Order: sequence, then C-alpha cells, then structure tokens
Amino acid sequence: MNLPEPNRHFIELGDAGADAIAAMIADALDRKSVRERLPKGQADRDAPLAGRVLALVFEKNSTRTRVSFDIAMRQLGGTVLILEAGSSQLGRGESIADTARVLSRMVDAIMLRTDDHSKVEEMARHACVPVINGLTDRSHPCQIVADLLTVIEQGKALPGLELAWFGDGNNVLNSVLEAAGLFKFNVRAAIPAGYEPDPEFVAMARAGGAAVTLTQDAGEAASDADVVVTDTWISMGQLDADEKRSAMAPYQVNEAMMAKARPDALFLHCLPAHVGEEVSQAVFEGPRSVVFDEAENRIHAQKSVLLWCFGLLG
Ligand code: CP
Ligand code: NVA
Repeated sequence: MNLPEPNRHFIELGDAGADAIAAMIADALDRKSVRERLPKGQADRDAPLAGRVLALVFEKNSTRTRVSFDIAMRQLGGTVLILEAGSSQLGRGESIADTARVLSRMVDAIMLRTDDHSKVEEMARHACVPVINGLTDRSHPCQIVADLLTVIEQGKALPGLELAWFGDGNNVLNSVLEAAGLFKFNVRAAIPAGYEPDPEFVAMARAGGAAVTLTQDAGEAASDADVVVTDTWISMGQLDADEKRSAMAPYQVNEAMMAKARPDALFLHCLPAHVGEEVSQAVFEGPRSVVFDEAENRIHAQKSVLLWCFGLLG
C-alpha cells in the first residue's frame, strides 16, 4: 500500500538517501545541543510530534532501541506503546499484514524489531503509517545513523574515512556498507572465512564509490584506520557454536590492534558488548572508546529518523 504523503518508511538507509541522512544528522546535532541541560523526558520547545503515537513492536530483545525510541518520542512531544510478540497476538500467529492494518488505524507510526527482514517489508507493504526497521537479521539502519552522527560529532568527515570492521559479517556491518556507498567512506573488514557480509551490501558500497576490502588479516584492516568497529560474535537468534567463537578469536579488537590504527582513531560498538570476546577491556574502557556517546546518540538520531518519516525533515 502506498503511504499518503508525506509519510515515509525507513527500512534501509537508502530509503532516505545521503542528502536526507545528512539533514537528519545536522538536525540531531542541533536538537542535542539546544536541550543539553533539560531533563531527558522534557519535550523540545517545538514538540513537533505532539499527539503522535509510535508503536514499538519487538520480536527480539532490546535495551537501547526500546529506550531511545521512547525517549526520542517524549522529546518530540509524542508517546509510544510497546508490543512484545510474546504477549501480543503476533506471538500466537496473527499475520504481519493484519497487525499492520490494525496498528495503522490506532497509531501514527510503527517500529518493528524482528528476525526475518521480509517481515518488516511485509509490515511496510500493509501499513498506511510509517514503518521503521528497528533491526532485522539483514540490517540495522537506525544504529548506523547514530554511528555516523557520533563520528561527525567527534570531528571526523565521512568522505574518504577509513573504517575498519572486525569479526562477524552481520546485520550491523551490512548497514555500515550501505552507508559507505552513500557517503563514500572506505571499509576494510577483517572477517574469518564463511562469515562474510551479504554480497548485496558489498556491491552497493562499491557501486556508490566506496573501496571495500574483505580480508582475513586483522592487522591489514586495522592499519591507519580512522574508526575501528566491532559487534558481538553471536547475534540474536544465531547458534552459539564453539566453532564460530574460535574462528572469531583472532579478530578481537585489543590494544595491539588499536596501535595499528591512527593515533586519533575512535572505537565504536553498537552494544551490547561481550568484553573479553570481540573487544578487550582496555579498548572498551579506553580513551578512544566512544561507545556510550554512540548509545546516547541513538536518541538524537532516531528523533531525526522520526521527523523524516513524518515528512518534517529532509
Ligand atoms: N544497539 C542496539 O540496537 O541495542 P539494543 O539491542 O539494546 O536495542
Ligand atoms: N548484531 C547484533 C546487534 C545487536 C544490536 C544482533 O543482531 O544481535
């Protein structure tokens, strides 16, 4: 179903495109700076989403996505309601299509966190309010808007940036690659054989003009990197196998790895982290780690995503 203008779905970064994402980041930085000392639940002065309700639908666990969307809506003057699969009819087999049509009559926007990406696409097909991808097995676009915001906030420009990724070629890396194509930064990903990212995202990055190197040599990826990124070795819904953990072991981000990156390199991790696995304690707690700024920026980034979905930005 087509959305009545100006409603827009945010299923992948490309739905918005580079110009709109750049506008989102600029607006997020502005809004963040003017409300610096306000209580976190107090609305921004203009409360642009006053009266709007966002449904947060979860088929997987979440801390940051859940809390940041809730606080983002409060700061924009709106409210949320939370629907867990296990305690709603979704968990008893009600279809995504019917859920989309019912929620569209009751709320103003829907965020879905789920496993199979086709479910968020199905939700968007049947909803007549904006649908936001809050993570699927394929991608995590909201996270990457916050990550780009964090990198820019730290004073780094995106075009030509060298981003090094370590470990699993997962949903978060897929969205990093999509962003690389949109903003023309380069990705060197050190990943053990068999765990590479979705080739469609690698192709998308290259088609957009990003240099993408997939290597099994962690040192090669780290060398002169501006930003070093990793994520859990075992994503939600994946089998926690000894085989995967031992394949990932050489790809831990530790001080030896950070020493190969540029002296001012940042360390990012979307969290939750497994300190001692994909990242050492020294790096996670160290001076180059901006992981808690990154987590906070989920709020500021999502405010912009929401405004874009409602046609109020970009
Ligand atoms: N980074 C992230 O999406 O965290 P949650 O799983 O806690 O939402
Ligand atoms: N790759 C992780 C990200 C969690 C925010 C997962 O899908 O579990």
